[in-house]
Order: sequence, then structure tokens, then C-alpha cells
Amino acid sequence: MSAAWIPALGLAPIAITCFTRGLDIRKEKADVLCPGGCPLEEFSVYGNIVYASVSSICGAAVHRGVISNSGGPVRVYSLPGRENYSSVDANGIQSQMLSRWSASFTVTKGKSSTQEATGQAVSTAHPPTGKRLKKTPEKKTGNKDCKADIAFLIDGSFNIGQRRFNLQKNFVGKVALMLGIGTEGPHVGLVQASEHPKIEFYLKNFTSAKDVLFAIKEVGFRGGNSNTGKALKHTAQKFFTVDAGVRKGIPKVVVVFIDGWPSDDIEEAGIVAREFGVNVFIVSVAKPIPEELGMVQDVTFVDKAVCRNNGFFSYHMPNWFGTTKYVKPLVQKLCTHEQMMCSKTCYNSVNIAFLIDGSSSVGDSNFRLMLEFVSNIAKTFEISDIGAKIAAVQFTYDQRTEFSFTDYSTKENVLAVIRNIRYMSGGTATGDAISFTVRNVFGPIRESPNKNFLVIVTDGQSYDDVQGPAAAAHDAAK
Ligand SMILES: *[C@@H]1O[C@H](CO)[C@@H](O)[C@H](O)[C@H]1NC(C)=O
Ligand SMILES: *[C@@H]1O[C@H](CO)[C@@H](O)[C@H](O)[C@H]1NC(C)=O
Repeated sequence: MSAAWIPALGLAPIAITCFTRGLDIRKEKADVLCPGGCPLEEFSVYGNIVYASVSSICGAAVHRGVISNSGGPVRVYSLPGRENYSSVDANGIQSQMLSRWSASFTVTKGKSSTQEATGQAVSTAHPPTGKRLKKTPEKKTGNKDCKADIAFLIDGSFNIGQRRFNLQKNFVGKVALMLGIGTEGPHVGLVQASEHPKIEFYLKNFTSAKDVLFAIKEVGFRGGNSNTGKALKHTAQKFFTVDAGVRKGIPKVVVVFIDGWPSDDIEEAGIVAREFGVNVFIVSVAKPIPEELGMVQDVTFVDKAVCRNNGFFSYHMPNWFGTTKYVKPLVQKLCTHEQMMCSKTCYNSVNIAFLIDGSSSVGDSNFRLMLEFVSNIAKTFEISDIGAKIAAVQFTYDQRTEFSFTDYSTKENVLAVIRNIRYMSGGTATGDAISFTVRNVFGPIRESPNKNFLVIVTDGQSYDDVQGPAAAAHDAAK
């Protein structure tokens, strides 16, 4: 820790930056020194007179009229949290409303001290630029308000090419830097999509921005098709593991960069990732030019790959040049965790109906194995009335709906009924069973936003036509 952060016997004010927040000062009373020339429109200030502790101290001080925008000393008093903080326009700053923030502060004119008022020489150890002083205390712990485990899935295809690949790395580096990586803040890792995906580094490898930036620089261009869908699935399964550094109870986020368009299906990969609890953000860069449109399988790929096509999970940049202004809005999205409940309980979650063969040829013990198999699949989904839904039908020549999509909305209940399914025993008419399920099980949930899947668990041959009903089921699912 730099000497700048140990106020000499409480006499010298602490030099802070434009963005130091009330909660960064862990004291009942502190004298601080605001720099001059802070960009007023970038201040986050919540409240009036009493400010929520997430507010910028210098912003609050300008808002309160304690200092002008040329900076100066400010005294900060910590206060308890409030029910609400109001929004007031004062001294060039529009403060914002906030409710129920757990701590607050207020500001008064600080003690002037000629030496410190110049903003210089608070520390003798390092020449203190505002930047250095800001970084020092946050360096290790990072930005606690943006605790997230983030994978950057970058495009390493021939499509993007070496040159734009480097610009992409630059951009990712800037995003990583602004996130505020640290032990208590966001952790990031990097995966490169190319013919075969490669995990370049994991969440646990580096927990400081400096190391991450260095690691990003070292990443070499791989080339090949982008196979972004394949890489996204790989990331969900292999990157986001506890062994690789995933932390409990923290949002998992993958930021997928796509230059142009993906070479494979990313819609299904998006669903898989969300089933693993990963929030999928798509950053699309450049659009296919008219001559390229013929090569694009689906121009609406972004909307289909994200959880909700309301713009939150997607981000577009026209090209890789002049991307600096796109850094901050992206970082803000990635730190808006209250919007990320979408991962598993999402518009395009799944409805899965299991069609279980109860014919005599299966036998009692194999029937138990089938149920176990069905349980194991069902177990992997987040079952709820707004998430995945499960139904089961048993069939012989006849069909029996064991339970339908709307019967149970918790995993425990679903697993319990599966365990208790009684073996029917009889002939096998798979085709009839498919038609029955489409009509009676999928029919009533026609309006569901989830994707529909029919999983047939059978020991083999059917005595009726399967192809016709199967094709009809496909059509019905469209
Ligand atoms: C703010 O909270 C107070 C009580 O703490 C309440 O009387 C007032 O109506 C609230 N204002 C708003 C805008 O919610
Ligand atoms: C990341 O950590 C893993 C496991 O500890 C290690 O095998 C790998 O070499 C590390 N990667 C880098 C880039 O340091």
C-alpha cells in the first residue's frame, strides 16, 4: 500500500480521484482532496445532501456546492443507509434516485492546507498522479461492485484475420482494465474460437489487471473457421468449472465476440450455456456486406443466441477501429448483475417430453434403467414455471401421460414422479405415441416461449410407422 493512503496522523487530506466513492473511504470522518477537471457528466451521484455511498465523493461535493469543478478539500461524514435518495439537479450535476442503499455520506467544506490544496505531494514515495492513487487501494481487491466470473470468447477465425484480431485483443484489454479485476472483484479468462476452441487462460490464472493484460497480449492468432457455437459450448462445459476458478454465487458471464457472422449454430450453444448457468452476451462487429449475405445462414443469429432480444445481452460495434467509446457501455452491461437472472430461467429455455417405452420386451430392470436415464437428464435442467419444463408419457400400443408440462414446477417433484412411474408392459407403437404426445402434451403449451424437445427412450423396433409422425412432430415444433 502506498504511503498516500495513510493520512499522516489524520492531518493531511487523502488525495482521491473523480471516481472514488463514499464506500471506498472506510471511516466515520475523513478529509479528502478532490482533483480538478473531473468530467461532470460522468459522475455517478445518488441523492441530495445525503448521498448513497456508491456516489462519487467529488461528484457529491460539486453537487452540494462544497467545491467547484476545480477541485479542493472536502470533509466526508459516513451516515447510515436510507430508504430512498432523491434526484436533484444542482451545480451542473443531475443526481439520480436510488432506494434502500445500506450506507450513505454527506460532505462539507474540507480543511484547507496550502500544501495539499495543490493536489501534490501527498506522498513522497511515488509522484502521485490521480491515476496511481486511484489504482493503489483497488489494485488487489478490485471492483467489489462488479463481482463476476467472465470469459471473453474471442474470434480467432481467418474471417477476422490477424490484423483485426490484434485490434480485438486491444479492445478486450481495455474492457478488462475498466472492469476493475481483483481478488474481490471480477475475474476474467479468455477462450479463442477457431477451428478448435482453445482456452487461453482460466479465471484462476490471474487476478490482477496487469497480469491479465499481459496474458491477453501473449495470445496468438489461430485461424480456421470461427465455430463459435462449438467454442461457446466448450466454454460452458470446460471453462466454468470450480476447478478452473469459478466462485460460488457469483454471476457467470461469457462475452462472445463475432466478427461478421458465425460459421456454425450458436442458438443451440446459447441454450446449452444458459443451462450451465452462464449469461451469454454477444458482441457483434461489422455486418456482412451485401455480397456476403449469401454465406450467412441466418442474419438474425444474434437475437436467437441471446436470452432476451431486448438489447441487453447484445452489443454491436460497426468495426474494430475507434472502439474506445464502446468500452464503457459494455463494462456497464457486464456489471449490471440484477439483469442477469436470465441465465437458466430464460425465454428460450426448454420443454422436454420423455416418451418412455413400456413394452414387454424392455423388461422390468431395463425399465428401471430407463427411468434412471430420464432422471439424470431431467436433473441437469433448472426446472421452474419460468424455466425448463418436463413431461413424460409411457407407451405400449397404448399411451399414458405420466405427467404433463404444467403438473410440476420443481426439480424435486419431477424427479419423485419419474421414480414412481409404473411399468405398463405391452406392445410397441412408437409412431402413435409420438402423435399422441404432440397432440396432448405439447398441444396445451403451444404458446410457451421455450424450445420443445421430444426424447424417445425405446429398446428398438416399433410395429407402426415412426417416420410420418416424427416428421409431423418436427413441423408442429416450428
Ligand atoms: C422516501 O422515503 C420516505 C420515508 O423514508 C417516504 O415518506 C417518501 O415518500 C419516500 N419517497 C419516495 C420518492 O419514495
Ligand atoms: C493456468 O492454470 C493452469 C492450472 O493451474 C495451468 O495448467 C496453466 O498453465 C495456467 N495457464 C497460464 C496461461 O498461466
